[in-house]
Amino acid sequence: MRVLVAGDRGYIGAVLVPFVRAAGHEVVGLDAGWYDGCDFGPQPNEYEKRNGDIRDVTPEDLAGFDAVLNLAAISNDPIGHLNPEATYGVNAHGTVHLAAVAKAAGVSRFLFSSSCSLYGAAGDKPVNETAQFNPVTPYGDSKAMAEEGLAKLADDDFSPTCLRNATAYGSSPRLRADIVVNNLTGTAFTQGSVRLQSDGSPWRPLVHVEDISRAFVAVLKAPREAIHNQAFNVGRDEDVVQIRTIAECVSQITGAPVTFADGAGPDTRNYQVDFTKIRSQLPAFEPKWTIPQGIEQIWADAQERGLSADDFEGPRFVRLRQIQRLADEGRLDLTDLRLRPVPAGSLLH
Ligand SMILES: NC(=O)c1ccc[n+]([C@@H]2O[C@H](COP(=O)([O-])OP(=O)(O)OC[C@H]3O[C@@H](n4cnc5c(N)ncnc54)[C@H](O)[C@@H]3O)[C@@H](O)[C@H]2O)c1
Repeated sequence: MRVLVAGDRGYIGAVLVPFVRAAGHEVVGLDAGWYDGCDFGPQPNEYEKRNGDIRDVTPEDLAGFDAVLNLAAISNDPIGHLNPEATYGVNAHGTVHLAAVAKAAGVSRFLFSSSCSLYGAAGDKPVNETAQFNPVTPYGDSKAMAEEGLAKLADDDFSPTCLRNATAYGSSPRLRADIVVNNLTGTAFTQGSVRLQSDGSPWRPLVHVEDISRAFVAVLKAPREAIHNQAFNVGRDEDVVQIRTIAECVSQITGAPVTFADGAGPDTRNYQVDFTKIRSQLPAFEPKWTIPQGIEQIWADAQERGLSADDFEGPRFVRLRQIQRLADEGRLDLTDLRLRPVPAGSLLH
């Protein structure tokens, strides 16, 4: 298949593109480039990378593609809070625009990188795909709105599929420090302690970034009837864990002690997720990673590449800090989350 991957230059995209290519597909990337230069190792190359915003895509841009994978987004709660309207503009309206344009261009499959965070405050039981959306943040809300918009576009010629990913972990050429396993492991490396910001009691579903990539490849390969207008929770039942279990695991592997931030109390985000559907309906999806292996992977890469505390806590690896830096430098407009063109002769680049 000829596949457009939007958001190919982010944390997941930089891992996913080689997986999709290894499965035999031709990939073209499309990314606004917010995190260009925020590198943790060599970037995947040898495929066409386009600069652009998903909100501006036209049918001509998508002519000749068989599938579009949309990973482009404001990718966490803190950035989503900066400007909720702009978050809806990119994550919900931008996604639905991209899908409508794909449909008009004759693309038959649209894979959306959604999130388990749309379940929000879900109660004590593991939630499956039939659960009510109950998002508690603009980010979670934006994913729910996008899914509702995509479902309306589904017809005999156009099959949207929503992959509701658990929280990702693992190394990537575009590492993120602002997701829990990566954060605790990187802090153990750079600070010598596993620092918990909450009391560690909340539950989180986790999935390795390579296993997310495997899920996308499995959906591309699946027969249409298995994925048409479907949503899948992406992860594994045994990887739904309490934050303090992750902290203890990081501590065991790295030897760094667990500490609690001042005033650490319970975290309000707390949910468990059921992964029965993807296991039964998408048997080609075979996750390979365990959480301890992911911690060891990040630790080994941190050692090999010399991860510094400044980088780990700064714009290079913390998405909100990079967005704020781009805004402070006048390169990103926070009112609509669009990059400003660099004036000719400017020292900014
Ligand atoms: N990382 C996780 O734990 C996780 C979990 C569940 C879902 N997701 C979803 O998966 C997707 C990828 O996540 P990630 O961790 O790689 O995020 P990321 O922030 O590292 O990457 C997002 C990429 O999208 C690009 N982008 C943002 N807005 C754009 C626009 N309007 N047009 C074109 N490109 C744009 C950015 O430049 C960046 O390269 C997101 O949709 C995110 O919400 C991520």
